[in-house]
This record gives sequence, structure tokens and C-alpha cells, in this order.
Amino acid sequence: MIPLIVSGASGQLGKACIQNLSFLEGFNVYSFDRRQLDISDRDKISRVLSSLPKVNYWINCAAYTKVDDAEKNAHEANLYNAIAPGHIAEACKDAGVHLFDFSSDYVYHNDLRRPLKETDPTAPKGVYAISKRDGELAIAGSGASHTILRTSWVYGPGGHNFVNTMLRLAKTKTHLRIVGDQLGAPTFTFDIVEAVKSLIHLDIAGHRNDINGIFNFANSGEVTWDDFARRIFNLSGVNCNVETITTEEFGAPAPRPPYSILDCSKISALLNKSIPHWEDALQRYLAIPNK
Ligand SMILES: NC(=O)c1ccc[n+]([C@@H]2O[C@H](COP(=O)([O-])OP(=O)(O)OC[C@H]3O[C@@H](n4cnc5c(N)ncnc54)[C@H](OP(=O)(O)O)[C@@H]3O)[C@@H](O)[C@H]2O)c1
Repeated sequence: MIPLIVSGASGQLGKACIQNLSFLEGFNVYSFDRRQLDISDRDKISRVLSSLPKVNYWINCAAYTKVDDAEKNAHEANLYNAIAPGHIAEACKDAGVHLFDFSSDYVYHNDLRRPLKETDPTAPKGVYAISKRDGELAIAGSGASHTILRTSWVYGPGGHNFVNTMLRLAKTKTHLRIVGDQLGAPTFTFDIVEAVKSLIHLDIAGHRNDINGIFNFANSGEVTWDDFARRIFNLSGVNCNVETITTEEFGAPAPRPPYSILDCSKISALLNKSIPHWEDALQRYLAIPNK
């Protein structure tokens, strides 16, 4: 059995971990939602680790993810995205546990107009993006063994995400105005968990050094939000007209990168696997009943 902790268990990525790291495949998951473990509670983190039988991995899915609200709640965003991951990392280091954490494509936000590599400069803009970059730095600075996956436009069952929002809105509206000048890659939580699983198996096979550090991970291909919405409606057989608007017209409080395609060749090469295309992932997601 591979014993591991999942924190932030009631978020969409946390739920995907619980659903896909199965007992039958040899994973023994100790899961904690926010009520059971607030990741800003440093003492509780240590108590959790010392109260359990030895665990090998901690998958932290907890984060402050309300990108626009973060602009006025900088204290919380910083506490949960920057400081708390550092506390988890320090506790993991002391306990000899490998930490998986998740960061965002928004940490790049540079002027490069080509797929972004892990070694490209980060220039996060806005409170959320800066807090995620600071979380990466806190984890790296702790000296803990860790893997950080930078991912983008995440959706999965039970989540507050773009796909579910589109499907919900289309029940009452026949016309939606969606931003068309941001290019990115929607990423399915189940594919993120598959990558984590593969990294764990690689680690067990003796490749700890190879899985350490920062990796981009997003479904392959690229799309704008308006075309993503059109594809969601088309695949779901929903009749809803999508009007393209600009980021400026939409007027969200937090800045968004206009170009945010992640070059995922580092993780693909390591795992010797190609990453599924976003359209393939979307079809698999839409086929899940009661999302
Ligand atoms: N969603 C995206 O598009 C996206 C894109 C790139 C990267 N990421 C990263 O991917 C990871 C997973 O995101 P997600 O999409 O699964 O987010 P999510 O669905 O919003 O889940 C985050 C979970 O963290 C919990 N949480 C917040 N503060 C906490 C605290 N102090 N202690 C314990 N739990 C806490 C939340 O609980 P409450 O709901 O009760 O607050 C929620 O259940 C995050 O690191 C996120 O930054 C997400």
C-alpha cells in the first residue's frame, strides 16, 4: 500500500484524487477537507503527520482559488497560497514525506508568445498569481522533497469551474458574452491525478531526483474561452449563442495573461507519455453523469 495525505479534499482536484487514487491500485488515502485540516494551522499539520502511520506523500490540493476576490482579500490569498504551503513543506521535510503541490500558469504572465517552459521568467500579476509564485518559492526554500505542477484552466466533477458554469448558465440563457482574447489550455482534474500517479510510481522505482522540482502540466492543444464555450455547448447538444468579447469589456478585477500555453515536454519526456488533448479530456468529462 502507498499511504498518502490529500489536503483540500473537498475541492475539485481533491475530489479527483480521492476518486482516482484507489485502494485497488494500492493507494491508501488519508483525506482532509478544510474543516478537518486548515492548512494555515501549522501545529495541526504536525499533529496530523504524527498521528498517522508513516505516509510517503502529501498531495496538497488546498488553496485560495478565487482569483478575482483575491484582489481584495490579499491576506487570505497570501496565507493559504504562500505561507501555508511553506508550513506543509517544512513538516514534510521533517517527516521525510514527498510533497505534491499545484501552481498556476498565471505565474508566467510574461511577454513571450510561445509555449512557456519551466525555465522561462515568471512575472505574476495580481494578488492570486503572486501568492501562487510565493508558495512555489516557500516550498522550494523549505528543502523538502517536492513536486510542483503548474497547471491551467482546471475543471473536474464537483467543481466550481468554467465547464459547469457554462452548462448551468445555458439552462436559463440563450446568449452568452465570453472573452475571446485569452489563449490557454483547459485541464481535466483526472488527467492531473494520472500524472501524479505516474510520478509516484517513478519515485517508487527509484527516481526521486527526477520528480523533484517544477513541472508544467496542462492538457495539450490551445483554445480561447469563447471557443471553449462553443465546444462545450456543441458536444453537449446545447443551443446557446456565444458572442465574443474582449478581456477589457469583461472587466474582471484580476489581470489575466493573454497568452498562457504551457510547454509540457519536460513532464511528457519524464513519464514517457503524451498528455491528452483538451478536446479528448472534455469529451471524457462530459460523459460523466451528475457532474
Ligand atoms: N481552478 C483552476 O483553474 C486552477 C488553475 C491553475 C492552478 N490551480 C491550482 O490547482 C489547485 C487545486 O485547485 P482546485 O481547482 O481544485 O480549487 P478548488 O476547487 O477551489 O479547491 C480548493 C480547496 O481548498 C480548500 N481550502 C481553501 N483554503 C483552505 C485552507 N486554509 N485549509 C484547507 N483547505 C482550504 C477550499 O475549501 P473551501 O471551498 O471551503 O474554501 C477548496 O475545497 C490549487 O493549488 C490551485 O491554485 C487551479
